[in-house]
Amino acid sequence: MLPVKDIEDFAREEKKDADSVIHDFGHLKRTATGAAWFVRILGGSREDEELAYVAGLLHDIVRPNTEKVCHAEASAERTREILRNFGIGPETAERIVLVVRDHRKPAKWRDALHQSVFLADKILEQMGAYVVFRRAYYIGECFDFRDKPFRESVTKHFRRRLEKFRPEVFPARFRKLVEYQYSWVTDFFRDFHSGMNYAETLARFCYDAGRTHSMLLEECIKHYEPVSYRDREIKDEALKYIEGRKFREFEGFVRS
Ligand SMILES: [Fe+2]
Ligand SMILES: [Fe+2]
Repeated sequence: MLPVKDIEDFAREEKKDADSVIHDFGHLKRTATGAAWFVRILGGSREDEELAYVAGLLHDIVRPNTEKVCHAEASAERTREILRNFGIGPETAERIVLVVRDHRKPAKWRDALHQSVFLADKILEQMGAYVVFRRAYYIGECFDFRDKPFRESVTKHFRRRLEKFRPEVFPARFRKLVEYQYSWVTDFFRDFHSGMNYAETLARFCYDAGRTHSMLLEECIKHYEPVSYRDREIKDEALKYIEGRKFREFEGFVRS
């Protein structure tokens, strides 16, 4: 048994006043929940569900506000140290460290645990209605966009992320879930690109909140006032996800 509650408290404390709000404790906790869910769906053991949860809590424990350093390597090193301080034996600790180290891109997966944080981070936290808010917020807070105008930054960042999308890196049984999640982002970007008012309004609201850190991302989603049915749908879906009310529906998209 791992001291999960203590590690959770530690991560929460560590992320107080974090540089990057989109990588705050909320992101860690949702990734942890998602990672444990993926282990269960993939038929992993209860013990591995717990390890996945801890790996999720620590996967972005080091996360500066730039893409110019590899935060996965840095977080893996820090995870090793944290787990040692919690008295966790090296064998268990190294399994968690590996998950953290490989959460950014596809690897030669050893088992469900190894893949779990990658899947949760990419499919649940970097896709879906929620990520429309998250991404616009991130562009506001990211140092790499500091000197660039709003519209150009949003277009450039969304386009780059869409170009990087490779559905084949995910197991075939999650294809439908990935498509569902991804369509929220592509639809939004299409509307933003064609100048639709709701898309501009939503992106601007989150971008400003990210830039000023006037509110956290979750508050930003809750406070956003939709201007059309479409952004109301995006907001409702994002809220359902952050409140943990989407998992049953997600299960319906997974092929057995
Ligand atoms: Fe990460
Ligand atoms: Fe992450």
